[in-house]
Amino acid sequence: TETVYGLGADATNGAGVAHVFDAKGRPSFNPLIAHVADMPMAERYGVFDETARHLASLFWPGPLTLVVPHRADSAIHPLVTAGNEAVALRVPTGPVQALAKLIDRPIAAPSANRSGRISATTAQDVANELGEAVPLILDGGPTAIGLESTIIGVEKGTLRLLRPGGLAVEQIAAKSGMPVATLRPAEAHDDANPAAAPGMLTSHYAPSMPVRLNAVSVSADEAYLTFGGQMVRGAGVCRLVVDLSPQGDLVEAAASLFAAMRRVDQSGASAMAVAPIPQTGLGLAINDRLKRAAAPRNTMDARHG
Ligand code: TXA
Ligand code: MG
Repeated sequence: TETVYGLGADATNGAGVAHVFDAKGRPSFNPLIAHVADMPMAERYGVFDETARHLASLFWPGPLTLVVPHRADSAIHPLVTAGNEAVALRVPTGPVQALAKLIDRPIAAPSANRSGRISATTAQDVANELGEAVPLILDGGPTAIGLESTIIGVEKGTLRLLRPGGLAVEQIAAKSGMPVATLRPAEAHDDANPAAAPGMLTSHYAPSMPVRLNAVSVSADEAYLTFGGQMVRGAGVCRLVVDLSPQGDLVEAAASLFAAMRRVDQSGASAMAVAPIPQTGLGLAINDRLKRAAAPRNTMDARHG
């Protein structure tokens, strides 16, 4: 899709969906997004009130996922929603939209990475991540946005941010004229409460080495991930410097984030030191992914996402 590569199955086919969980190593309580071709198709599965319909008309196709009540007569398999009464729907652009239209079925697709690891933004990343576990890779070139979709829950005409992503919250609020509530910390997902907001997992998007945020220096055996040309002590002699956007453009930074993390991962650096990134626009989603990459890992976390 335009965001990241997905690992797809016919969302009405339980065995197909089970294969997706299996290939990713994902715990089955974490539900999947169903990708559909257009609004009429979305309305076969989700209950859209005026607010949800308005958001869809503004941003679909695009990097926005809407969590709406699941229709009682929906053909989407219960494995996709993991028993939730809500369903996550998205109309993407590109090959996935065309495929959903062609087969006239919703496509359940989480990001095409092993659970807990960095999302794939090229077909080669998918091959490296999942290899023999997937029978076919559709190569649509590098993804344009590079970050997963923004997930919004629509409930009784109000909007709630369930996961920051490739569509800036400011843009949703400005175009829709509606406020977007963020999760209260008590409701945010944690290991004790995995069902609260399954998109908000603790350790995720993790490279194999430790990640340090807001670094003020970098040592010779570390890699430095920076933004907007910021430099710190040691950057001149460290193992690798990657600037997500020398011009300080957050859209460009979002598009290059996961590829940059993969480069650092493969560089043999002992750790990844990260410069501060502005917390506005797509910076919200970039910082969210970096925070998860830096989160302590345990065996439970390593199975997520
Ligand atoms: O851009 C994207 O969103 C990519 C591409 C492939 O579309 N997909 C993606 O999927 O990031 P995934 O599975 O890695 O993340 C989807 C998130 C999950 O964390 C899941 O818990 C949440 O959406 N989700 C799915 N269904 C939900 C539901 N019914 N209620 C609340 N959250 C839901
Ligand atoms: Mg994912």
